[in-house]
Amino acid sequence: MTDLSVSDVNRVQLPVPVDSLPDKRQVAASFSRAAASYDSVAQLQRDVGQALLARLPATLSVDRWIDLGSGTGHFSRVLAERFPQAEGVAVDIAEGMLRHARALGGAQQYIVGDAEQLPLADASGDLLFSSLAVQWCGDFAAVLAEASRVLRPGGVMAFASLCDGTLFELRDSWRAVDSSVHVNRFRPLTRYQQLCAESGLQVLTLEAVPHVLHYGDVRDLTHELKALGAHNINPGRPGGLTGRQRIKGLIDAYEGLRQPAGLPATYQVIYGVMHKPASGVRS
Ligand SMILES: C[S@@+](CC[C@H](N)C(=O)[O-])C[C@H]1O[C@@H](n2cnc3c(N)ncnc32)[C@H](O)[C@@H]1O
Repeated sequence: MTDLSVSDVNRVQLPVPVDSLPDKRQVAASFSRAAASYDSVAQLQRDVGQALLARLPATLSVDRWIDLGSGTGHFSRVLAERFPQAEGVAVDIAEGMLRHARALGGAQQYIVGDAEQLPLADASGDLLFSSLAVQWCGDFAAVLAEASRVLRPGGVMAFASLCDGTLFELRDSWRAVDSSVHVNRFRPLTRYQQLCAESGLQVLTLEAVPHVLHYGDVRDLTHELKALGAHNINPGRPGGLTGRQRIKGLIDAYEGLRQPAGLPATYQVIYGVMHKPASGVRS
């Protein structure tokens, strides 16, 4: 564990600040760089996307689906299989991710775009599917407003995101070392509930489910976050190198949480499924 890379530990902190917006160009660049390594470490993302698919209404009729924050397009391909007659659109802010996704297929269109400002026409989709992407959006109300605009009446938005409590073990272990913010805060479940309730969409499902992964050591966790593109890109991140003493402090604190299966890392995943009323958006 002594070969934990100093720069890795500095960089690998999840984004999604509650109080400040990440620089979207940096989000895009970080994910574009991670496109080649992403799929090999994305087991949680696979499990969460599958769990989100399982929450879709059974009778949903789809002529056009949108995979928002499609990443490498794994779920675009799953959606294409599930709705073989439908047209599919993959949207992502990271051009590098979309290039990777396009080479693997699934969607008919690949569009670089921001979930807070979708480059899509009004009432142009029946299903907006978004797995583990909108936690990168500082303005979730804007994401919901865009979903409401882009969905046809009767359409469905299904999203999975992260809420507070995510990676609390890493955050608390860093707290034993210093008072800097190493793992950003995530929106609380109550904030998601409030924004969804105010969105004009009808909430069918909104629940938080903890997913706990286990790692052999702290380096395994931080390397995985890095391979996923989850670099710390927020204003206020600590600058400079992390000294050996601080890394040792982090490792010692985290080791205190070790379980028989390894070092735990909790992701508080929120699943939301919302319906656009056939009569239009409620005021
Ligand atoms: C963790 S990956 C998830 C990818 C895919 N949905 C999956 O489950 O494998 C998050 C994706 O969201 C994209 N993303 C981040 N912010 C975004 C935004 N504002 N608009 C659209 N996509 C965004 C990233 O570029 C990245 O590809």
